[in-house]
Amino acid sequence: MLKPIGVFDSGIGGLTVVREMVRLMPHEDIVYFGDTARMPYGGKSRKTIIKYACESVDFLYSKNAKFIVAACGTVSTVLEEVLKVFASPKYNIPILGVVGPSCELAVSLSKNHKIGIIGTVSAIRSEHYKFVIKKIDPNVQVFQNACPMLAPLIENGFSRKNDKTLANIAEIYIEPLLKEKIDTLILGCTHYPIIKEVISKIAPSIKLIDSGQAAAKKLCHLLTKSKLTSDKKTPGELTLYASDLTENFSENTKLFLGKETKLKLCKF
Ligand code: DGL
Repeated sequence: MLKPIGVFDSGIGGLTVVREMVRLMPHEDIVYFGDTARMPYGGKSRKTIIKYACESVDFLYSKNAKFIVAACGTVSTVLEEVLKVFASPKYNIPILGVVGPSCELAVSLSKNHKIGIIGTVSAIRSEHYKFVIKKIDPNVQVFQNACPMLAPLIENGFSRKNDKTLANIAEIYIEPLLKEKIDTLILGCTHYPIIKEVISKIAPSIKLIDSGQAAAKKLCHLLTKSKLTSDKKTPGELTLYASDLTENFSENTKLFLGKETKLKLCKF
């Protein structure tokens, strides 16, 4: 199968999923869309997030994607409604979000059954992560906190591990969850794995669930199961589209993905 995998997010966050995908499935072609012109999604209404997500899916569909990954925690909390829009046989394209894979992994790793979640305001307010965890194991206690400033800070270059502003703000958000004695923390926004080192300094003994790793692993399994893996013998190509090709986006992607990734930056 020579079609690419489509991946989307509001900005660079979804690249945490892409990075793991490239590691696990190096022969896959990937088309990525970052909706940088309308980022952040995290404070927007459910209706608007669904609308933006449908437009991203439509774009990736026009790029001939064989499988689409909603590499965004916020979008993944409204994915069921997006799937309804694309339910017609005309589309016939599987779409995977990050909530399910992250919750499954968190429940399997937590020893004291106390799981924390950090994410955007919309993702936390939807209570979708909590709903999915309780469905897997009703005995798990879930504690969550919205972190409205983290994704915009990361998107604007405040992601270096020694950045004091970022560390102080992240600590304010995470501290209340540590007081609840959680042993596992879901990084419920795909931007957060970029600052994993900062978070692990704040919560050194907590297992951190990287939604990028969890989703890429699940995707690899689903592609193999449905016989959709690439036939390519050479390294896959990564094409990045952004609704606003800002300097920040180009710089951040190179910094984050590393030089060795063969990537093409395109105008939307
Ligand atoms: N990376 C996103 C998420 O996983 C979105 C952050 C935002 O746009 O607010 O939720």
